[in-house]
Amino acid sequence: MVECCGEKTVYQGRIRQMNITAPRGTKDILPDEISRWHAVENLFASVCERYGYGEIRTPTFEKTELFARGVGDSTDIVRKEMYTFDDKAGRSMTLRPEGTAGIARAYIENGMASLPSPVKLYYDMSFFRYEKMQKGRYREFWQLGCEIFGSSSAYADAEIIAVLDTFFTELGLSERQLELGSIGCPECRPDFITALRAHFEADLDKMCADCQERFEINPLRILDCKVETCQPFIATAPSQLDYLCGACDEHFAKVKLALDELDITYNVNRSMVRGLDYYTRTVFEYVSTHVGTQGSICGGGRYDGLVEILGGKHTPAVGFAMGIERLLLEIEAQEVEFPPLAPLDLFIISFPDTAVSALALAQKMIRSGLIVQTDVMERSLKAQMKQADRSSAQYMLVFGAEELESKQFLLKRLSDGVEHTVAVDDLADYLLKAREK
Ligand code: HAM
Repeated sequence: MVECCGEKTVYQGRIRQMNITAPRGTKDILPDEISRWHAVENLFASVCERYGYGEIRTPTFEKTELFARGVGDSTDIVRKEMYTFDDKAGRSMTLRPEGTAGIARAYIENGMASLPSPVKLYYDMSFFRYEKMQKGRYREFWQLGCEIFGSSSAYADAEIIAVLDTFFTELGLSERQLELGSIGCPECRPDFITALRAHFEADLDKMCADCQERFEINPLRILDCKVETCQPFIATAPSQLDYLCGACDEHFAKVKLALDELDITYNVNRSMVRGLDYYTRTVFEYVSTHVGTQGSICGGGRYDGLVEILGGKHTPAVGFAMGIERLLLEIEAQEVEFPPLAPLDLFIISFPDTAVSALALAQKMIRSGLIVQTDVMERSLKAQMKQADRSSAQYMLVFGAEELESKQFLLKRLSDGVEHTVAVDDLADYLLKAREK
């Protein structure tokens, strides 16, 4: 019998300490890292809102069928990487491995098609993929993303890339490489697939078992394969760019022209592959040489068929998502400076008979907008002094019985030891003004 009691497990009469760690591939984000997260998340929200995007949040889990249909049965994400479980009523559910399918579902379900087009959405959510752990690759990771529904214009593709370019510029990420491609549409893709089959057929027996299966189900997915022995055959495969129909070719040319006009540099990538089935026409990635083996910081593209696949009306759409963990690694590699954390304004030292009044004073100061700490450990005066020193607070005061009586405090500036007497009613103003100096 297994029986839990606090942190110990009683197992067949023996007691052993439980050593519970975070699941492999997940990570805690601690207070000393969170300011960087807030900096990128807040900047992203600000840039998106300036471009007219509204924030959306969708459920963490969805019906499995959504991803099977939306992302594609033959993708690695659906075949190997989803966290899928049956709920208590036996319905198959999946932790979202990406955001676009869920957002397209929400677009249909919430009648957003009747809103004036285009509908522009952004998000900041976590996603789950059962992948092999590597630097910059997690099983729960966060993405910042944008989706535009309702525009088939190449200018929507250009705008979505412009959002990213503005974000990277304002973040101070100067080294960036945009890879741009087109994977055509249902009109021109069959010819490309025929060409791929013809290319791979002769060497199929030398390729991995997955690729042999992909050859039958969806030869496009062979281009995703990371297995070493398959690479020579993939490297010499035909390019979709040579099979684009007139309309796709024109669309691609218009995207490039718009990016030139926006001064956004890009590299036309003739063998661009994206690991999701819903893409049509434009596909792009921002890649880095810094982020370990995980070169892609951000990926996106057009997905004109997805809303219809999920049961909505035909709705052209385009979007991207960028991994926050990878972005932060890139920021570190490029030594981008972040504004330092706001320092503590005041540390209040108290005695046993004034500790509760010190708590009340701290609360009053905090409600005035100051950052304040006081002792909640009932420590000795000496220990509190040490803590105040270590806290890198701007000011400190000792709250004794005398101060309680006089309602006057001797405020000490910790940088140079200069002291001022300040009345309790003037304290917040005094400290707020001191901040501005
Ligand atoms: P994706 O290329 O699968 O696209 O992921 C986008 C970004 O998410 C990647 O470039 C990477 O930064 C990050 N990412 C993906 N997997 C992991 C992982 N295991 N650990 C850490 N970061 C990861 C999509 O998800 C599409 N929904 C993008 C999109 C939006 N296309 C159109 N709209």
